[in-house]
Amino acid sequence: MEVASNISLKTYNTFGIDATARHFVQISSVDELQDVLKQNRWKEIPKLILGGGSNVLFTSSEVELVVKMDIRGVEVVKEDNSFVWIKVGAGENWHKLVMYCIDQGWGGVENLSLIPGTVGAAPMQNIGAYGVEIKDVFTQLEAVDIKTAEPRTFDTEECKFGYRESVFKNIYKGKYIITSVNFRLSKQPKVNTSYGAIEEVLTERLGKAGVKSASIRDVSEAVIHIRQSKLPDPNEIGNAGSFFKNPVVPRTKFEDLQQQFAQIPGYPISENEVKVPAGWLIEQAGWKGKRLGNTGVHNRQALVLVNFGGAQGEEVKKLAYNIQQSVNEKFGILVQPEVNMV
Ligand code: FAD
Ligand code: EPU
Repeated sequence: MEVASNISLKTYNTFGIDATARHFVQISSVDELQDVLKQNRWKEIPKLILGGGSNVLFTSSEVELVVKMDIRGVEVVKEDNSFVWIKVGAGENWHKLVMYCIDQGWGGVENLSLIPGTVGAAPMQNIGAYGVEIKDVFTQLEAVDIKTAEPRTFDTEECKFGYRESVFKNIYKGKYIITSVNFRLSKQPKVNTSYGAIEEVLTERLGKAGVKSASIRDVSEAVIHIRQSKLPDPNEIGNAGSFFKNPVVPRTKFEDLQQQFAQIPGYPISENEVKVPAGWLIEQAGWKGKRLGNTGVHNRQALVLVNFGGAQGEEVKKLAYNIQQSVNEKFGILVQPEVNMV
């Protein structure tokens, strides 16, 4: 294990922000990680844990120590006629794992195709898309305490998953490094096509009758198609996916807004709460396609902030702040960032 110095992080974050890591260490085993955490040299130094860098915004030009997670491996822990239980290293690429599961005929993650990043970061915000979240297939994870280097297991309940939430973004923020994640996948998968857009694409491709017999690969391909038509590719233009979370408002607040904005979309998520698409709010506040210097709001998806090239993290943060203020002025809703500002 080698500690490198003065490494540019530009290619380590999908926003393409050019910050520098004073020190940079790539971790390929739990032992290596514990070794680094126990060394006096690194004990008191602030550490940034990095996976694929697809949900971070570097807001300062320098980071003290980057711990890049590269623990690999997919292991079958247990199986029966219905399910397979797997343990996956934190550094495995999420989408590659999804493709591997589809090749094996294991269902449960196909709706989460093409989400960038690593397996270890996936529980951080309980990644979700097209009607599925990882909490639906998650069983437990292993993590190491940053201060003591002691390992610990977290089960589903202890992770306290919510919409783009977990304990690791709240009470345990900055306290644990996830080293592996376990999932339970189905050997007799039932596909989830409840999300309107999936059904539309499948109907187009397989016909109305064919949708009923759609395979996990059909669903994955439909999701990939939808994502590629909506979301900008970070290889072409720097971004971190949705910059804000979709706000959840009380039903009464939503009804008030409907009086003023008849077209406002909303999805009831409980008897008294409605989720409102932040993309719609941002578009209505006039931001879609706007460019400010090197940053801007994507012209096809207002929830995605982009780096046109050469942007500093502070510029993106300022744009996000301005959007937040203007949406709040117009709708009385304070949208919260999904992206981790570090
Ligand atoms: P990073 O960006 O490297 O890290 C994210 C956070 O987790 C940081 O705070 C980091 O310190 C911490 N972290 C990373 N690894 C570990 C670890 N092993 N242990 C402890 N902490 C860790 N997200 C969705 O939920 N749904 C989507 O549909 C979706 N679509 C996206 C589309 C695009 C084009 C992009 C760019 C992003 C999208 N995202 C989506 C966001 C992102 O892909 C996910 O949040 C992903 O899980 C981040 O993984 P990462 O490895 O890149 O994490
Ligand atoms: N909309 C607009 N204008 C826009 C964008 C969206 O009006 O510019 C409205 C439309 O009404 C549309 C609705 O927003 O019907 C929802 O848009 P979309 O289906 O694109 O989904 P989203 O709410 O923008 C969320 C997740 C995505 C996830 C998709 C699919 C959040 C914050 N974002 O996006 O996750 O892939 O649904 O499930 O929940 C991410 O987290 O980075 C991410 C990309």
